[in-house]
Amino acid sequence: MKVGVIGLGTMGRPIARRIARSGGHEVLAWNRTPGRLDGLPAESAVAVRTPGEACQSELLITLLSDDSAVEGVLFEAGRLITTGMPGLIHVCMSTISDRLAMRLAAAHEAAGQFYVSAPLFGRPESAAAGRLLLVAGGPRPAVDRIRPVLELLGRVEYVGAEAAAANVVKSAGNFLLAAVVESLRDATSIVHAAGVDPREFAAIVTQSLFPTPVYQYLGGQLATRLAQNGPAVPNPFLRGAEQSAATARRLGLPAPLVRQIAAQADVNPPGQDTPVPPIPQ
Ligand SMILES: NC(=O)c1ccc[n+]([C@@H]2O[C@H](COP(=O)([O-])OP(=O)(O)OC[C@H]3O[C@@H](n4cnc5c(N)ncnc54)[C@H](OP(=O)(O)O)[C@@H]3O)[C@@H](O)[C@H]2O)c1
Repeated sequence: MKVGVIGLGTMGRPIARRIARSGGHEVLAWNRTPGRLDGLPAESAVAVRTPGEACQSELLITLLSDDSAVEGVLFEAGRLITTGMPGLIHVCMSTISDRLAMRLAAAHEAAGQFYVSAPLFGRPESAAAGRLLLVAGGPRPAVDRIRPVLELLGRVEYVGAEAAAANVVKSAGNFLLAAVVESLRDATSIVHAAGVDPREFAAIVTQSLFPTPVYQYLGGQLATRLAQNGPAVPNPFLRGAEQSAATARRLGLPAPLVRQIAAQADVNPPGQDTPVPPIPQ
């Protein structure tokens, strides 16, 4: 299959490499900043000069950073750049809003194409090893057709024909992670103020109540920073909480906790460089 990949960042590179190395596919790769194609096998991957050239494919995978990058690259003067490629399947693996996923689904349908949202849980190492979790939403025949490519990257959980449902699931997952960070932040601050070493508290909690990688990693980080009077640990998952809060507003749900956690984005902005902890799969 001819596979276009747009966005060769931290996740896009190992994903493009894995698909190109699988032997069965030809990759047309585009990145805004040139020179990100290192490690792609020359016999099955080519660097193209424009995003439009990457769309000359049967399957287009986009791995851009966020809503504004996806909108900026996929739409030119409001028109989808994939227009003229009937039957194309666009899989957006970025963490984007359900609002943008709905816009993409409608635009692709109008162009005689298919849109699938498949946001990722996992880290770049999981992508390289084919151990990501992909939450897929979109027309079933399209998802079934590209399943062999998606399964090169990891486990696929199909959540229904509405593409945006997959983005709602991804945001809800990230909201839960954001809530873990904020609840650990408050809990360690309280015990620290009461004279207990926050590292001891983190050890107690992660040995008994929550013996999971997410709590162990984040609890350790927060407690160590607090004990050393270091700078606040940023919360890399707050964007998910903000997106979940926006979905709750759209659906008319009160969801007070998600709104409260999302409001933390003003106090503890989402981290840019904080390594994402291992997500149990
Ligand atoms: N990293 C993770 O552990 C992880 C885990 C799960 C999900 N995700 C999601 O996966 C997506 C990609 O993440 P990442 O970690 O690969 O991000 P990244 O390393 O920052 O790469 C972002 C990519 O988007 C491109 N880009 C950004 N703005 C652009 C614009 N205006 N026009 C054109 N290209 C633009 C960048 O191009 P340049 O190279 O030119 O900057 C780069 O290719 C995000 O939605 C992220 O939330 C990431």
